[in-house]
Amino acid sequence: MKKVLIIGAKGLLGPELVRVFKRDEMYDVTGWDVDDIDIGDKNSVNEKVIGLEPDIIINAAAYNAVDKAEEPEGFEIAKRINGMAPGYLADAASKIRAIIVHYSTDYVFDGNSPDGYDELSSPNPISKYGESKYMGEMELQRHSEKYYLIRLQKMFGKPSNNPNAKKSFFETMLNLAKKQDAIKVVDDELSNFTYAPDLAGRTKYLIDKALPFGIYHITNEGMPVTWYGAAKILFELAGIKNVKLIPVSPDEFPRPAKRPKYSILINTKLEPLRSWPYALEEFLHNQQEFFNAVSK
Ligand SMILES: NC(=O)c1ccc[n+]([C@@H]2O[C@H](COP(=O)([O-])OP(=O)(O)OC[C@H]3O[C@@H](n4cnc5c(N)ncnc54)[C@H](OP(=O)(O)O)[C@@H]3O)[C@@H](O)[C@H]2O)c1
Repeated sequence: MKKVLIIGAKGLLGPELVRVFKRDEMYDVTGWDVDDIDIGDKNSVNEKVIGLEPDIIINAAAYNAVDKAEEPEGFEIAKRINGMAPGYLADAASKIRAIIVHYSTDYVFDGNSPDGYDELSSPNPISKYGESKYMGEMELQRHSEKYYLIRLQKMFGKPSNNPNAKKSFFETMLNLAKKQDAIKVVDDELSNFTYAPDLAGRTKYLIDKALPFGIYHITNEGMPVTWYGAAKILFELAGIKNVKLIPVSPDEFPRPAKRPKYSILINTKLEPLRSWPYALEEFLHNQQEFFNAVSK
């Protein structure tokens, strides 16, 4: 039996990782979140992680407040949690010869390439959040050789019970559809989406099959869309007909952090995941109660 430690167990991805590993009796699963460990505290990481002696450490904890990270205080937190902590975890992993899995983002790229970015493309972040995540990628690689660095983008999944949790785009759109007859959506940022249960399954696959260590791009496939394009597909699948979607330029909703204009993550290493609208259909089906509440 292998001991797997999942950190960030109360976030969007973490609970799916816990679920998928717990279903397999080959794994003894421990899930920790911010109440159990502060990954930004090197001593605490050393003491607690090394004390547990896991065979596999999966770090799904992060500071994902993209716009707040543009402010000096937010950037300090981002550097601590997204930048330095992956190095502390990787260092602890190396000391106990554990495998480490860490997640990063398409926001490490500048978004100037309409053709997208593969695993070997050079990062060039255009936001402080992207900088902090790129720093984490480098710290991870500096401290461990047995790592899987997984980049993903625009994740969605089961709404969190935590009222402070950041809502996924689809959850936000469904909530707005309850209240508004027309919704303006930014027609920019061409990319795909990542369904948390699919990503969790593919993470376990990397470990089960002992695939080579290194960088992987794991997102659902499909036709890349802008936020507006994604909202249109969501409303079609959810049968929401009497809410008008209005495409607008990003200038209508100015935000502090720059986002990559094109951020298609190209996967050259793994079998492609199903296309994201199929995953979205499953998500809506599984959230029937929530979905019924918003269908007008
Ligand atoms: N969500 C996306 O669209 C997206 C896109 C690209 C990449 N990613 C990456 O995918 C990974 C998983 O993201 P996610 O959306 O599942 O994240 P999430 O929902 O924000 O969950 C992260 C969890 O980590 C916890 N945490 C924060 N600071 C911590 C600390 N110092 N020590 C221990 N735990 C801490 C958070 O607790 P609190 O909530 O109480 O702070 C939260 O429960 C992250 O690496 C993220 O950067 C996500």
